[in-house]
Amino acid sequence: MTRRKFVCGNWKMHKTVAEAVELVRELRQRLNTQIQVGIAPPFTALAPVKAALQGSPIQLFAQNCHHEKQGAFTGEVSAPMLKELGCDGVILGHSERRQLFGETDEGVNKKLKAALEAQLHPIVCVGETLAEREASRTWEVVSRQIRGAFNGLAADAVGRCTIAYEPVWAIGTGKTATTGQAQEVHGQIRGLLREIAGPAVADAVRIQYGGSVKPENAAELLSQPDIDGALVGGASLKADDFARIVAGAK
Ligand code: 13P
Repeated sequence: MTRRKFVCGNWKMHKTVAEAVELVRELRQRLNTQIQVGIAPPFTALAPVKAALQGSPIQLFAQNCHHEKQGAFTGEVSAPMLKELGCDGVILGHSERRQLFGETDEGVNKKLKAALEAQLHPIVCVGETLAEREASRTWEVVSRQIRGAFNGLAADAVGRCTIAYEPVWAIGTGKTATTGQAQEVHGQIRGLLREIAGPAVADAVRIQYGGSVKPENAAELLSQPDIDGALVGGASLKADDFARIVAGAK
């Protein structure tokens, strides 16, 4: 089965509104592609970026959401709020949220259900730390994260998600997983999806790689059979680099 490649830029806590709108202007000039492309600006820039994307196929993603629809949760933003604002999807369970903000598999599961209920396309992030890889615990950790995130979800709901495999040791470090290391885990993830959601869903779900994806390594990584796209951090902040990564994904 041929899955449509999907590349998303995770801007993390970068770009003021003015900078975000300028980057979108540059991206619209440079991106000319049949693959699915998304960008995930910080919350403050979502509405102006949505306006700047009018008429463009580039999709808009948020970087997080709360699992409740509303309530006394100071500083939080809900999935229906993101949907109303025009977001297409939301990144969930990023390792920075797990490591720096205490997110758990159970919390990611609740957010995932909230995102799907709001008709948002979730990108569920998983990945092991360097210590876990060195202790040969990569698959134990990644499989626990995936089972935890998808706990209680029907197969068709799993089919509406994208997974991003992001080894923590490769994020922002310039150390990319080798194509062999990445493909091995992606293949295992595909196998686990087959077990929890059946072969048709497992075949359809896109599994992105993330961690120091650059114009120089994107094409090779994305040529692997189970690598269906990329979740790009640092290199998504420059229009030229991001456009070259997208071009390499074709
Ligand atoms: P870098 O591409 O900066 O390594 O970040 C990857 C990432 O965390 C994307 O979500």
